[in-house]
Amino acid sequence: MGRYEERQKRTKWFEEARFGMFIHWGLYAIPARGEWVKSFERMTTKEYDQYFEEFNPVRYNPKEWAKLAKEAGMKYAVLTTKHHDGFCLFDSQYTDYKSTNTKCGRDLVREYVDAFREEGIKIGLYYSLLDWHHPDYPHYGDNQHPMNERVEYKDVKHNWVNYVEYFHNQVRELLTNYGKIDVMWFDFSYDNHRLKGTEFEHMSGETWGASKLVEMIRSLQPDIVIDNRLGGDARKEEPDEHGGDFVSPECMMPAEGELDALGRPIPWELCLTLNENWGYAKNKPWDYKTPENVIHMLVECVSKGGNMLINVGPNAKGEIPKDSIRILKEVGEWMRVNGDSIYGCGKCELAKPEWGRYTQNGKMIYAHIHERRVGAFRFEGLQDKLKKVRILEDGAELKLCRPWNGGDFPKDAFVELGVAGLYDELDTVLELELL
Ligand code: GLC
Repeated sequence: MGRYEERQKRTKWFEEARFGMFIHWGLYAIPARGEWVKSFERMTTKEYDQYFEEFNPVRYNPKEWAKLAKEAGMKYAVLTTKHHDGFCLFDSQYTDYKSTNTKCGRDLVREYVDAFREEGIKIGLYYSLLDWHHPDYPHYGDNQHPMNERVEYKDVKHNWVNYVEYFHNQVRELLTNYGKIDVMWFDFSYDNHRLKGTEFEHMSGETWGASKLVEMIRSLQPDIVIDNRLGGDARKEEPDEHGGDFVSPECMMPAEGELDALGRPIPWELCLTLNENWGYAKNKPWDYKTPENVIHMLVECVSKGGNMLINVGPNAKGEIPKDSIRILKEVGEWMRVNGDSIYGCGKCELAKPEWGRYTQNGKMIYAHIHERRVGAFRFEGLQDKLKKVRILEDGAELKLCRPWNGGDFPKDAFVELGVAGLYDELDTVLELELL
């Protein structure tokens, strides 16, 4: 079996799950200016350490987070175990810069894993390849390090081998000490233009020790799926071993889904924010997506053969913002009665209709109607191809018919409307069973 086939097999559950919760949480919730605050404000570690001394999320209860994810219809979750600031939300033996050494004294990852696993939600761990706390991560000249313009760091020697060993050891801890892990989500590879010709020019692939890292990951967690941000190429006919099991477009919807060099579909996951911020932020307007936006974006991802991982950013007390909760609960109400049109579904054999989108699962085609139509509802090209049509939400029949004014559309199928409450303003879903 080639790597393409292996990857298709490994990602079967992932492509059926379709919908996940991203969780960006850490010390940066205290300044509440986003997860890049240490870099954007060029903070020294000493300045940033005030948040380490203060961090005490007294109302952190991941059971509540897990219940929300379940209620929203999410099948997996991905929590930041270490973001770019280097702070570890888990009890690592390789650093003192960890949640168990803060006032809360808790292994936050342990509690997250236990709570989400209890709700039957698959476990994803995000781990930042960047580390703005570790002395052996390049400072001066690195694109985004907080100290990248500070000349006092210009001639500092960084023991890169030491840093790579450090982060490989932490990944080993995460994949050894917390049971079965389903998703490993690395972030991110990049080039350092000001460090051309040095060992830090290309922060990707073997600079991370990617081949050895992936080999270790797969030996510890054979069924895990890994994202593509280690810098390998997932689209080659024979994808790189460190090319990842899915590609991870960020806040940008692929035009037609993701294909490899041979035009074969490959797993992908759109990650996006719910309110324009990853980490908790109060210095920017919270431009929340509506429940309708979230549902339409999820349907678009699935209609193009992809997943959607949408983010919540809990605050310094350990609570998910109220608006995020409200929106995800409303999305969950739609998912509760329309989930069959999402889970296990993918790209439809039919072209995108003008009134919305199709998703498909075998002989079931799901029509997601986003616009009301004039007269009887018409399905282009489906005359004599349908066994029956039902409103997915309540199973009500929509009878196939030939309306008096349908003469111009002999190849198209029609259903009589005439039923109460057909249109759900969020997204009306009809289940079309093929003959
Ligand atoms: C971007 C952000 C990073 C966030 C990631 C999620 O890389 O810089 O903070 O974790 O997106 O995909």
